Amino acid sequence: MSTSENSKVRKVTTHVLHKMKLHGNKITMLTAYDYSMAKIIDSAGIDVVLVGDSASNVMAGHQSPLPITLDQMIYHASSVVRGVKRAMVIVDLPFGSYQGNSMEALSSAVRIMKETGAQAIKIEGGAEIIESVERILSAGIPVMGHLGLTPQSIHKFGTYVVRATEEDEANKLIKDAHLLEEAGCFGLVLEKVPAKLASKVASALKIPIIGIGAGREVDGQVLVLHDMLGITQKFSPRFLRRYHNLYEEIQGAVKAYSEDVKNLDFPNEREQY
Ligand code: KIV
Repeated sequence: MSTSENSKVRKVTTHVLHKMKLHGNKITMLTAYDYSMAKIIDSAGIDVVLVGDSASNVMAGHQSPLPITLDQMIYHASSVVRGVKRAMVIVDLPFGSYQGNSMEALSSAVRIMKETGAQAIKIEGGAEIIESVERILSAGIPVMGHLGLTPQSIHKFGTYVVRATEEDEANKLIKDAHLLEEAGCFGLVLEKVPAKLASKVASALKIPIIGIGAGREVDGQVLVLHDMLGITQKFSPRFLRRYHNLYEEIQGAVKAYSEDVKNLDFPNEREQY
């Protein structure tokens, strides 16, 4: 693509996402952690690319997002940003980079914005992190909230079951969603909560609500790229639709390559100098 063609690409911004909600246009969001995948999904027209701390699971093979560091998130995010022209890029603040106090949260968010070129950060939690959210926003950094199943707190929950099925937790979630909107968050991820509750939140709030396992009555959907492409195999929650079985496709290609090499079929005469 030439520079003049580049300049015609209209970047997705927080303003665009608000307008999409207003006009009832659903927002599409997928995760990416590297340049090549980010380039493919951006060229397919995805609206938002999330550099999720799920990188800890799908890229590094950990059991949870807890081990990934801020430096590692910055490495992934700067690779993604280089591959993206149109989509908005949002980066997760990883576990341990913001819970200490609001100054720590701000300095982590500033590092992400300065060192990656992303457009926004995402942070897990409600009332308990509101001071950090406000401080980050006061520096002009757009913030997306994340409520419901918040994987960084998995050891507190002790289980990956659906969240906010009981009245108390549902009420706290609604209260937290309003708090985050009032603080100035531009959007909110709701993970693994009852569809009715997510729908209620999406109609009560003006900011876009992006669901994962939260039903369709929200303003957009997000999935982990490696899950929806079928690269990950064992993770099969009800909300996950697999659009491909890339694990088997890649495995098949690698087997074919190995056979060709062993049978002296690769490289052939046309593939040598
Ligand atoms: O880290 C991640 O991939 C996420 C999505 C599941 C929303 O936070």
